[in-house]
Amino acid sequence: MFQRIRYHFLLSYLVIFASLLGIFALAVRIVFAHSLTEQITDKLIAIGKSAAANVEFEAGRLKIESDFHPQDLIAHHQALQWFDPQGNLIIQQGQTVLTLPLLPKKMVQIQTGKLPIQGVTVPINDSDSNQLVGYVRVSQSLEEFNETLEKLDWGLGGGIIVTLVLSGIGGILLTRQAMQPIEESFQRLKQFTADASHELRSPLMAIKINAELPLEYPDEIGPKDAEKFQAIASATNQMTRLTEDLLLLARTDKVPNRDWYSLNVTSILENLVLLYKPQAQANQINLISHLTENLYLMGDSAQLTRLFSNLIENALHYTLLGGIVEIKTTRVGSQVYVKVQDTGVGIAPEHIDKVFERFWRADKSRSYNSGGSGLGLAIAQVIAQNHGGLITVTSQLGFGSCFNVSLPASIRGR
Ligand SMILES: Nc1ncnc2c1ncn2[C@@H]1O[C@H](COP(=O)(O)OP(=O)(O)O)[C@@H](O)[C@H]1O
Ligand SMILES: [Mg+2]
Repeated sequence: MFQRIRYHFLLSYLVIFASLLGIFALAVRIVFAHSLTEQITDKLIAIGKSAAANVEFEAGRLKIESDFHPQDLIAHHQALQWFDPQGNLIIQQGQTVLTLPLLPKKMVQIQTGKLPIQGVTVPINDSDSNQLVGYVRVSQSLEEFNETLEKLDWGLGGGIIVTLVLSGIGGILLTRQAMQPIEESFQRLKQFTADASHELRSPLMAIKINAELPLEYPDEIGPKDAEKFQAIASATNQMTRLTEDLLLLARTDKVPNRDWYSLNVTSILENLVLLYKPQAQANQINLISHLTENLYLMGDSAQLTRLFSNLIENALHYTLLGGIVEIKTTRVGSQVYVKVQDTGVGIAPEHIDKVFERFWRADKSRSYNSGGSGLGLAIAQVIAQNHGGLITVTSQLGFGSCFNVSLPASIRGR
């Protein structure tokens, strides 16, 4: 149980932390890419401006000054293009030219493809008339830019993974530390219940013996006193059963698995049917069984007997005169299913989740002597869980209930 809570804690912690790291990395990447693009754009604009300054406007045509060598201006991964005011290409220099048409309104153009290129368009104005005479478009390969971003991605991704691993380790230590006091106090509570019920055993035994002793000599005590002693003895029996149940609940999960061996469920159930037949007959209840031959599972024989007898007892107890209680077993795959079905009073839908709770009973006013103390199903549930199994219940108020136990099967002799 605590293991599950711990994993749950750790998982939610890691999910939250990972999302925070992700958001952080995303923000860093966006800001970085943005400023890098801006930087490139600024650089290209500067180149474009100086290229624009080196052209002349002669007889309506754009002419590059003779002493200007564009190759001096641009690096090997950059290119220059000149356009007339209509957007027709006049001349170009360099490899990484944009093939996109010139869009005077759009200063920055990005061409995707095998070789991504960014271009910046700068208008050329005649220095005398201040008239638009053409455009110069400077472009640069984005390969380097992409490489830088890729490096950043790797750095951020690696950083996130390392941080997550480290924080996972830290989280394991932290959750362990946080859960320890809770686990300890839970264990103490359990130990207390076990100790208290254990300590109650001997005084209860003493009361029982002393109450039953006078009953063996009815002549020496009056019938009135005999009745009183009888009441004391039966109340003591009730209390003894209750303390035994509490002790069982506090101790069941301590049963070590290696003490288990292969058990024949069929024969356990056959014996129980024989045991409860007289009680069923006394209440005119038809106790039927349909048992699959030789169903085996690993477990503790006394505990499993207890589990099934609790279910059968309930079925008989909460079924009225003339009803039917049916016990069925099946094996599906590696699971053994034991079904205890009755045509009894049933359980209200709003109560169905509560039946396995400790001390819960539908009829709280019912006297002590009818039925148990409300621990029967809680014990059955704990035993089933300790055997890697599960109990489910379906019921219809007034028509009956069906308790279904599933347990992992075993191959004979293992
Ligand atoms: N077969 C059943 N039919 C109807 N109600 C049931 C049945 N089994 C259990 N219940 C309800 O669940 C409650 C808890 O059962 P259990 O834990 O065995 O306690 P107890 O039998 O001591 O009352 C019962 O008091 C009863 O209200
Ligand atoms: Mg019961």
